[in-house]
Amino acid sequence: MHHNPIYLALDLPRLDAAEALARKVKAHVGGLKLGLEFFCAHGAHGVHEIAKVGLPIFLDLKLHDIPNTVAAAVQAIHVLQPSIITVHAAGGRAMMEDAKAAAGEHTRVVAVTVLTSLDEGDLASIGVNASAHDQALRLAELAHSAGLDGIVCSGHEVAAVRRQWKDGFFIVPGLRPADPHTKHHADQKRIVSPREARDAGASVLVIGRPISRAEDPVEAARAIEATL
Ligand code: C5P
Repeated sequence: MHHNPIYLALDLPRLDAAEALARKVKAHVGGLKLGLEFFCAHGAHGVHEIAKVGLPIFLDLKLHDIPNTVAAAVQAIHVLQPSIITVHAAGGRAMMEDAKAAAGEHTRVVAVTVLTSLDEGDLASIGVNASAHDQALRLAELAHSAGLDGIVCSGHEVAAVRRQWKDGFFIVPGLRPADPHTKHHADQKRIVSPREARDAGASVLVIGRPISRAEDPVEAARAIEATL
């Protein structure tokens, strides 16, 4: 069987519930994504508990500080053996280089470019006078030249990013399984399905609520896996 690119986002406040969900859907996903909220609530202990499920861990902490501090943080999480970690490209070249140097050889270091919560007005208010798109491309180039493994990007961007960075490792969140009943509605046009993102060049598909909030999470994960 080929490698499963789905990383399940475990955005549940309770550790026992997160672990139970991970165990249930384990056969249908390729990894587990733990974010800042999980890490602040449950720390290294929580990551160890989830790692016992036996799937690769993506530790999505979006680190952003001076190079020395980020490198020390990356060293501190080394013991957790994450397969993927994230840093903010806006932290600059030296920060990214030092983060990559501090990571273990089995850990991919991936850059976050522009948060999707920021619009052009928000960017202008922090002194960025570029469109979100242009700023994301600029930061992607910086991440590439700093030696990072790839970037987090949307399903709409991944094909263009892949053309510029052929061997990059691209993580795509914000996916929604194609629903045969709504697929052709005009207001569904902007939705990218897991299959479309994979075909466009995504290395990892981050999927949370379509699985975690499904009536039957195992069936939801199985159905998504079957489309790939
Ligand atoms: O929407 P869903 O529950 O599938 O989100 C999966 C994960 O992707 C969440 O942890 C969310 O924080 C993350 N995400 C992201 N960037 C986005 C959209 C979602 O990092 N633009």
